[in-house]
Order: sequence, then structure tokens, then C-alpha cells
Amino acid sequence: MQLDKAELQILGNAEEIARVAADEFVRYALEVVGMRGLLTVALSGGSTPIKLYSLLASGADSFLTRVPWDKIHFFWGDERHVPPDHSDSNYRMVYEAMLSKVPVPLENVHRIKAENPDAGKAAGDYERVLYEFFQSVTIQLPHLDLVLLGMGPDGHTASLFPGTNAILEQKHYVVANWVQKFNTYRITLTLPVLNNAAYVIFLVTGEEKAEALRFVLQGKYQPERFPAQLIRPINGSILWLVDQAAARLLELNG
Ligand code: 6PG
Repeated sequence: MQLDKAELQILGNAEEIARVAADEFVRYALEVVGMRGLLTVALSGGSTPIKLYSLLASGADSFLTRVPWDKIHFFWGDERHVPPDHSDSNYRMVYEAMLSKVPVPLENVHRIKAENPDAGKAAGDYERVLYEFFQSVTIQLPHLDLVLLGMGPDGHTASLFPGTNAILEQKHYVVANWVQKFNTYRITLTLPVLNNAAYVIFLVTGEEKAEALRFVLQGKYQPERFPAQLIRPINGSILWLVDQAAARLLELNG
């Protein structure tokens, strides 16, 4: 189903989403690496993508051998303000599900160093990592080939939560975003970088996301309430991979 500048695929369940996402990841990675010799991807945190990461690292459908691991540079879309060995760490989640099992060179893994007690410094550090890697000049933003995103039941994505300062950031690539409901900082990529991506894939599952998904995809444009609506790549495309439970409130009139 085509939305304006986005494609929506409704699949049976989380396992099907992981498989379709894994196939698409391999297809796109081989295409981009074939053209440019490398792929840059910002990974999503949370629980939904764990199945995808595990599948890519598995022998199933020979994903493990089809992915050009040594040509991929991994970044994170956001990180919790915790050390990398903390149970909440997105880096730890990705490491355990995938990076610990695949032949990706250490220098290709660019984690957010969220162990820094000063969240602002952690964000500044990561902004420098992006700047240096992409060798951006002031007028040019980091250009990620692929961004994987999830969406919360409140319509947040990455760590762009409703009513928080980060959704307004137009200058910095990375910020420390105070999230009152969790009483903590999150370090997150900002819209200038996310909307400079060539390709965004959302993975959304579960009936608890259904109401937000209907608002985000088919409701009034209210980005303060539903930050996922802010993801509109300027010269890129979006693929929404959602399961039937999350899609149950969508108007699907052909
Ligand atoms: C995070 C993610 C966040 C996540 C959504 C959905 O750090 O948790 O960046 O944006 O994608 O909260 O989370 P689930 O996949 O766990 O539902």
C-alpha cells in the first residue's frame, strides 16, 4: 500500500516482519555496497528489532553469509543514558542479538558512549563521531544510507518523545533529550540527520501500537503529539513494516 512518499506492508506477525525486514536489509545492503563500497545504517533500539538482528546473525536462509558485514558501518539512532553492559542499553541488545555473532570489524561499530555521566557530553561526542565519519561540512548533514526505527505506543520514535525538546532541534545532529516520564536523559539522533537518510524502515508490532499508528499514518499532522510523523526523509523513502495487530485500526480502503 502506497502512502504519500512511504510504503506500508502489513504482515501476519513479528516473525514475518523480521524475515521481510532481513530480506530487505540484505537486498539493500548488497545494492548500496555494490554501488558505493559501503553501507551506513543507524540501528533502532527497543525490543521489536531483536528478531531482525538475531535473524541476520543466523544461518537461516544464509543471512549470515549473505550480509556484506565488513562493508557495513553501524550507528545507533538513540541510546539510553546507561553503560554499554546495562540491561537497558541498546548497544548491549544489538551486541547480544547480532554483533557478537557476525564478522563485523570493530572499527565499523560506532556506539553512543552513553556511560558518560554527562549526557550532553555523550551527545556531543557522538555528534563528533558522525561529523568525522561523514566528513560533513557545516552546510552538509550526515547522510545515512539506512535508518531502522521503531515506534512507541505514544508515537515516539528513536528518543524523540512527545513534548520533548529534541523534536524541535534543527541544528545539532545528536542531543541529550530529557524524558520526564522516564526521569532520565536519552541520547538521540535528531530530525536533520534522520530526515537526511536515504531509506527509513519502521518496524512496528503489537496491538498497543495500533492507535498511535492510525494517528501517525492517517491522522491529522500533530508532530508534537506523534513525533513519528516528523520522519519525512527529504530525498529518501520510508517503508513501514507493521503486523496485523498494530494495523488493526488503519482504514484500508484499497
Ligand atoms: C528505544 C527505541 C525506541 C523504540 C520504541 C519501540 O531506545 O527503545 O529507540 O524508539 O524503537 O520505543 O520499542 P519496542 O520495539 O520495544 O516496542
